[in-house]
Amino acid sequence: MPRVRVPATTANLGPGFDALGLALNLYDYISVEEAPGLEITVRGEGEGSIPRGPENIAYRAVRAVYARVGREAPGFRITFDNSIPVARGLGSSAAAVVGGLVGANALLGCPLGEEELVSLAAELEGHPDNVVPALVGGLVVAALNGRQVYYQRLEPPEGLCLQVAVPHFSLSTRVSRGVLPSMVSVEDAVFNLSRTALLIAAAQVGNLELMGKAMEDRLHQPYRLPLVPGMARVFAAAMEAGALAVTLSGSGPTVIAYCRGSCPRVGEAMKKAFQKHGVDCQIKELQPCREGATLC
Ligand code: HSE
Repeated sequence: MPRVRVPATTANLGPGFDALGLALNLYDYISVEEAPGLEITVRGEGEGSIPRGPENIAYRAVRAVYARVGREAPGFRITFDNSIPVARGLGSSAAAVVGGLVGANALLGCPLGEEELVSLAAELEGHPDNVVPALVGGLVVAALNGRQVYYQRLEPPEGLCLQVAVPHFSLSTRVSRGVLPSMVSVEDAVFNLSRTALLIAAAQVGNLELMGKAMEDRLHQPYRLPLVPGMARVFAAAMEAGALAVTLSGSGPTVIAYCRGSCPRVGEAMKKAFQKHGVDCQIKELQPCREGATLC
């Protein structure tokens, strides 16, 4: 029975909206086997909230693999052992999609290659910046060309350590994308595209300070401020405590501070700042993960 370990991911990294993603060392384990009917078990994160019917995203991913290779889908038993908080901006749905795809592909003897899995994953998820690093690990740049995904995996720089503040409320990506404008100024577009390019160049040469300076954004975070109480204060608190940069993780509500080496005082400062706005949060210290989805 294939069991897949899939990493959490943080998307955007500030300016790289829908284009950049980074795998993190926090994992869901998803196993897939053929069985009569549909049986879905969820343990850990999402135990009471992840749908256990045909709308389950991992199940849809499993069926998509069978359809792509022209095999009739039987019933399935899918089991989740989850550590990735659900609907917090840490790629829980991308992990489910990737777990379903890789598990089903393994069940069928691996007929699909990485690029086919990437394109199926982006189609199911709607954007590539979580699913691609979940699948291939590391730091990923991705671009959609219709249904095709152009992507490049890069090694994350050495020495980067993340203080991750996970609020105890969830935020759906649909809601968080719904507040974004349909038009932006050329000035804001240039602000983001110059920083996105700079961020990748700095990451390539391991210049963490320059990477931090490049992680500002004008295309999505300012519009999402009202959805995350205390976000501006949490950002300021993390920078004052010594972070290199702070971003909303994906569509939020999780906030990530990027630090050189372990920096627990940054996490404590973020927790206190959230508390001042009545938001309880859990602090996790994570590192970039070089490996993507792995059969185990
Ligand atoms: N790029 C997506 C967004 C990521 O910011 O809406 C969602 O996790």
